[in-house]
Amino acid sequence: MSAIPPPAPDRPIVRVNMAMTADGKIATSTRSVHTFGSPRDGRHLYQLRAGADAILCGARTVEETGASLGNGGDAFTRKRVRDGRASHLLRVIVSGSASFSPRAALWNHRFSPIHLWVAPTAPTNRVARLRTLADDVWTSPVAPLDLRAGLEHLAAAHGIRTVIVEGGGGLNDALFRADLIDEVHLTLCPWIFGGRTAPTISDGIGVQHLADARSFHLVRTRRIDEEIFLLYRRTPGELPALTPPSPPGPRRRPAA
Ligand SMILES: NC(=O)c1ccc[n+]([C@@H]2O[C@H](COP(=O)([O-])OP(=O)(O)OC[C@H]3O[C@@H](n4cnc5c(N)ncnc54)[C@H](OP(=O)(O)O)[C@@H]3O)[C@@H](O)[C@H]2O)c1
Repeated sequence: MSAIPPPAPDRPIVRVNMAMTADGKIATSTRSVHTFGSPRDGRHLYQLRAGADAILCGARTVEETGASLGNGGDAFTRKRVRDGRASHLLRVIVSGSASFSPRAALWNHRFSPIHLWVAPTAPTNRVARLRTLADDVWTSPVAPLDLRAGLEHLAAAHGIRTVIVEGGGGLNDALFRADLIDEVHLTLCPWIFGGRTAPTISDGIGVQHLADARSFHLVRTRRIDEEIFLLYRRTPGELPALTPPSPPGPRRRPAA
């Protein structure tokens, strides 16, 4: 999908994809609304997944959205196989304290391996319970959880070359602070949610000084109807070959 070289030989390319309201929110403050993009945005999400070997999400996102983290259907399966990828993405859930729910809907969808990343400080009873469900549990060598080591493990042990990250803001923030994000795909949607506590694309701890903030290059903007699709890249480079936009439709983002 992309001609950009990996920034480090020992970890995969990392892309983040998020839909954001015009006031910078990724869900309402009650978190009851988290799906607000158009069908075009939904297709964009699956196109990005199609260009990745693995998908990485924080525990709360997967619980709250009930996502299965699928590949988008038969056409995308065929594309993945044509491109030499596994038919479905390897699914990785980050849950430092192993609080990820054993009742999450994700566990009902067994079309590809589900891996869990935990910190060495995670309570052993929780980890043991999740081990009975997950295909693999990777324990970070240090606490707090070392995301770079996790990505390196994905590359070395599972041959993962490209990772798509789909939030939430807590996980994104840790990845930004560790400078592990190569591309940010942002869909700006024509809604205002408001709410001081409504999540944003990067919550968590954040930075205190401009010098510590990650800067990105805006390499593409594309308006389709009322949405703007933005691509930021950490280092300038060749554009990824995304498929042409599909016709617009009513404003909903499909359950993923
Ligand atoms: N609009 C969009 O495109 C979009 C996309 C995704 C999500 N969202 C929304 O975002 C919200 C969820 O975001 P969130 O920030 O609350 O949750 P999140 O990042 O999805 O998950 C947070 C949890 O993931 C684990 N985690 C994340 N980073 C970690 C790290 N560096 N080390 C160890 N564990 C880590 C922790 O699990 P433990 O508690 O087990 O330690 C943490 O409590 C939801 O409302 C969702 O709907 C919107």
